[in-house]
Amino acid sequence: MITTNRVLSLIQPTGDMHVGNYFGAVANYVRLQETHECIFGVVDLHAMTMPFDPAVLRANTRQMFIDLIAAGLNPDKCTLIIQSLIPEHTELCWIFNCLTPIGDLGRMTQFKDKSDQVEGEGGAFISAGLFDYPVLQAADILIYRADQVPVGKDQVQHLELSREIARRFNYSFGEYFPEPAPLLTEAAKVMSLADPEKKMSKSLGDKHTVGLFEEESSIRKKVKTAVTDSGALPEGVTVSPGVANMLTILKSCNKNDVAESLLNDYKAGTLRYVNLKEAVADALVELTSSMRARRAELMKDPARIDKIITQGTAAARQISRETISEVRKLTGLPERAN
Ligand code: TYM
Repeated sequence: MITTNRVLSLIQPTGDMHVGNYFGAVANYVRLQETHECIFGVVDLHAMTMPFDPAVLRANTRQMFIDLIAAGLNPDKCTLIIQSLIPEHTELCWIFNCLTPIGDLGRMTQFKDKSDQVEGEGGAFISAGLFDYPVLQAADILIYRADQVPVGKDQVQHLELSREIARRFNYSFGEYFPEPAPLLTEAAKVMSLADPEKKMSKSLGDKHTVGLFEEESSIRKKVKTAVTDSGALPEGVTVSPGVANMLTILKSCNKNDVAESLLNDYKAGTLRYVNLKEAVADALVELTSSMRARRAELMKDPARIDKIITQGTAAARQISRETISEVRKLTGLPERAN
């Protein structure tokens, strides 16, 4: 089997990055850039699969790019990209489309959830782009022949499909692609604050998420109103989902000892939720205040951001052009002068 040890992961420009994105995936990006060849960035083309406004897409794409740097990515240590600037992603996507059975796409839970959402909102149609979303994701990864993909648990099914596509390509045209595997953090699924049985997600609404760059007062307010106790627990469950989520967040902020001691209080029946919430709010504020400051600095220097985008695009295209040229040869397409 082919291995490359190259890491790739991308994020949608959905407005502000939330702590679910950070603890589930981005914190891992920050660690991996120290030890691996890494490519990270923003998927503006994926954001077009749901109804969108051009001005909002433009602004959110740039904001998420800046947020990745503010969250700790260093453009000297990793390659940072905006998906649509590298046309080889969509070129490879087409070739992969022709290798993917539509039945596989219909089984994707994210497709089912998002198409329910579109239908629920009324009027809009479910686009072919939404159906095809995971094939573009496979192309995002394999255009760089990356084999390690730091993501949250919700993306595991998409990665299974990416592996399937790589296998099908290799079987049909010769061994060329590695089979990408997910890299999960301990907090692979951060739950909503207001409804801890659901995954934290921007689409649930503002009270469900904590933005990584939110003001201190707002972080404290949201954590204070988080749901901790949700009544009787099912058989075999010893910690309520809300409390478990708070403890996961604490551990992700490197507060293992505090989490341990609060868990002991919980088991002994002596935990005061107000103490748990205060510990979580303190940990989040401590973690995020320097990121907030860094983001404000970055926003003041648009020329620097433009330069990082140009550099990242050039570095990424060196790899993507090489891959597409090889793929064209393997699949019988004519050679193209790049
Ligand atoms: P997206 O933009 O929804 O989320 C970005 C990353 O954050 C993770 N994540 C979470 N992790 C833990 N708990 C949560 N509540 C939570 N919410 C989000 C996601 O798992 C993801 O890692 N399809 C992808 C974007 C994508 C991609 C790719 C990822 C496009 N091409 C290629 C990897 C490789 C997505 O929508 O992520």
